[in-house]
Amino acid sequence: MGLFSKDIKTMDDLFVHQLKDIYYAEKRILSALEEMIAKATTAELRQSLEAHRIETRAHVERVEQVFRMHGVEADTVKCPAIDGIIDEAEEIGSEVEDKTVLDAALIGAAQAVEHYEIARYGTLVAWANTLGRSDCASVLQQTLDEEKATDAKLTALAESFINATAR
Ligand SMILES: [Fe+2]
Ligand SMILES: [Fe+2]
Repeated sequence: MGLFSKDIKTMDDLFVHQLKDIYYAEKRILSALEEMIAKATTAELRQSLEAHRIETRAHVERVEQVFRMHGVEADTVKCPAIDGIIDEAEEIGSEVEDKTVLDAALIGAAQAVEHYEIARYGTLVAWANTLGRSDCASVLQQTLDEEKATDAKLTALAESFINATAR
């Protein structure tokens, strides 16, 4: 989460700040996924990441939708947490030579991104409900469900790779 300023006084300010944080994160994730797709060595992983890249475009649009519903202008706030996770993901490839190991590393990095998003959207849904904005909560919940489904898909993929390697 970006650095908190003294401008955050109410739950509403906090909610908007977190929206700006996830807006920044989703935009960074969109370009990070492109790089990860380029590095993936198996069709299965490429397809999974590509499917989630398309979903991520919708995530960006849903955050914009929630900004509109909430009556605030869409804006980003720098998020050092996702920057760190993505910087680490971008280093993968330079250090890994074996293709199966490379894909396993990419899945691990992608899951770190998903877990970050799951944490943030879980909080956003809870805060939206606290603020009496179940309409915003249900939009954010749709994205949360897709992040969780992606995480589960990546776990299944990781397990199939491990099984294939063990055989
Ligand atoms: Fe997302
Ligand atoms: Fe995601």
